[in-house]
Amino acid sequence: DWTSDNIIDEQVAAIRTKVGGARVICGLSGGVDSAVAAALVHKAVGDQLTCVFVDHGLLRAGEAEQVEKDYVAATGINLKVVDAADRFLGALAGVTDPETKRKIIGREFIRVFEQAARELESESHVEFLVQGTLYPDVVESGGGTGTANIKSHHNVGGLPDDLAFTLVEPLRTLFKDEVRAVGSQLGLPDAIVWRHPFPGPGLAIRIIGEVTRERLDLLRQADLIAREELTASGLDRDVWQFPVVLLADVRSVGVQGDGRTYGHPVVLRPVSSDDAMTADWSRLPHDLIAKISNRITNEVPGVNRVVLDVTSKPPGTIEWE
Ligand code: XMP
Repeated sequence: DWTSDNIIDEQVAAIRTKVGGARVICGLSGGVDSAVAAALVHKAVGDQLTCVFVDHGLLRAGEAEQVEKDYVAATGINLKVVDAADRFLGALAGVTDPETKRKIIGREFIRVFEQAARELESESHVEFLVQGTLYPDVVESGGGTGTANIKSHHNVGGLPDDLAFTLVEPLRTLFKDEVRAVGSQLGLPDAIVWRHPFPGPGLAIRIIGEVTRERLDLLRQADLIAREELTASGLDRDVWQFPVVLLADVRSVGVQGDGRTYGHPVVLRPVSSDDAMTADWSRLPHDLIAKISNRITNEVPGVNRVVLDVTSKPPGTIEWE
């Protein structure tokens, strides 16, 4: 019967059989699926695996460090980090349309990942690509198995033909809670194993308006406060996701200290859901909301108002863009 130990033993054996002595590449996103998939493959074939982490500069506070430091410390995985923040921000300059943001980020992601893959390939041939596909993804896409290109990011279209890899998908039979159990068993940090779902385009689609470094810094501070207070309240696992959104093109009047301010609102968007297809706004305790609101307006410069999104999905989506 099902235990995470059995799954690990079974998958490690299957990966060894499939991969043999070949080289393997895996893109890490910061999320639980790719982290657990890579850890399983590493347990099976060790240094034949190289992971690539494209830091697009759109992650939340501390998340890049979680991958670069804590995850590597926990697993001993070979990690190639590509700091591509300037490139992504450059490509996003002046862009406000949500779908255009997604397209640009998907395109840049592919280019950067492809470059990293070519560099590895130039050392010696890479045969396999690891993907953190889960059982629900398999069902949703009709169950096909592939020699296709990368799909780890759902914005990502594919790599060129001369960079085609055979896929290794060690999580194909698992549900999310099982993936978490396996991740814990493999010794991955809780911050990764219990991370809420987070969109590939990251904070770029939580800034309503143009994405700039300054706005990302503000949003990161507000987001960190919401996350810290949610965790402190013990309610992390009751909430599916807790987007914090910066209305960068909106200003409202406030009063702080002795002066009138004209600052930006931040939206709190905590939701409960089973699968993100539908969602309800989370009835978090008012004291918790109050604490987050007070801290954000006191600690984040330029933000003078905090509002709570009380829309279910449908009609609202979880993200604002
Ligand atoms: P919505 O906003 O459509 O989101 O209710 C449903 C779920 O999908 C996530 N999301 C994305 N994930 N790339 C992603 O990888 C995207 O472009 C994207 N847009 C939304 C969202 O965070 C939620 O979990």
